[in-house]
Amino acid sequence: MMTMTRSTVVSLATLALLSYTSDATAVHKRDLEAPIEIEGGWEYQGCYLDVGRTIDKDSFRNDEMTNEMCGEFCYDRGYSTFGTEWYQECFCGDKLAPGASEADPNDCDTACMGDEDQPCGGSNRLSLYKRKGPDVNPGWMDYEAIGCWTALTSQEHSIDPVDMTVKKCIEGCATRGYILAGVEFGGECFCGNTITNDHELAEADECSYACRGNRTELCGGTGHMNVYDFKLQFSGPPATT
Ligand SMILES: *[C@@H]1O[C@H](CO)[C@@H](O)[C@H](O)[C@H]1NC(C)=O
Repeated sequence: MMTMTRSTVVSLATLALLSYTSDATAVHKRDLEAPIEIEGGWEYQGCYLDVGRTIDKDSFRNDEMTNEMCGEFCYDRGYSTFGTEWYQECFCGDKLAPGASEADPNDCDTACMGDEDQPCGGSNRLSLYKRKGPDVNPGWMDYEAIGCWTALTSQEHSIDPVDMTVKKCIEGCATRGYILAGVEFGGECFCGNTITNDHELAEADECSYACRGNRTELCGGTGHMNVYDFKLQFSGPPATT
């Protein structure tokens, strides 16, 4: 067993004093900064009130939590909103509960357990992110986006709606030899070779539904389709996308 000599005591005291002083300077509160954008299309919205599960579709906690980790978890599950809270909690959902308004940014003062420089919410506060988009998929396999149409003369190609993506629809229509592929209503796929006269190019915002199998891209709307044209054989250069 080590006996404490006088000099050890002195140096321990010095150490204690040193660490005390450095602690004292560290008491100055660190500025936490939320990443403004996170991979997957997430954009920081601010510090929000948690009114007893503002976002509640899915959640997990992890002692290496960061906003990136939470973003990845919620992205994989197809949600459009996430929030981190109280050092290490992650919540996913699509809508905020009523009353969940924006709070003072300084209320989000609990650093992420996995990154001491960023906030993971606070006490009943969420560092909140929303995903931008969805966007038009510009094309796949030489099929190019030619805009949002009211419909096309077509045959339905059945794909399980929950799996619908632009790629799957195009691949299905390509296999059957059609030059046009259209995705509608989030989860329907149509193939054809022509668009009839009474069907026309619509405003882009009529096609506003995310594909159910890929929420970062658009799959038409009610009675509207994002149409894809093989090597622009049908339409010539696209009018709009
Ligand atoms: C999801 O959509 C994006 C945007 O259109 C696209 O780049 C990506 O390849 C798609 N992923 C799948 C698996 O279809």
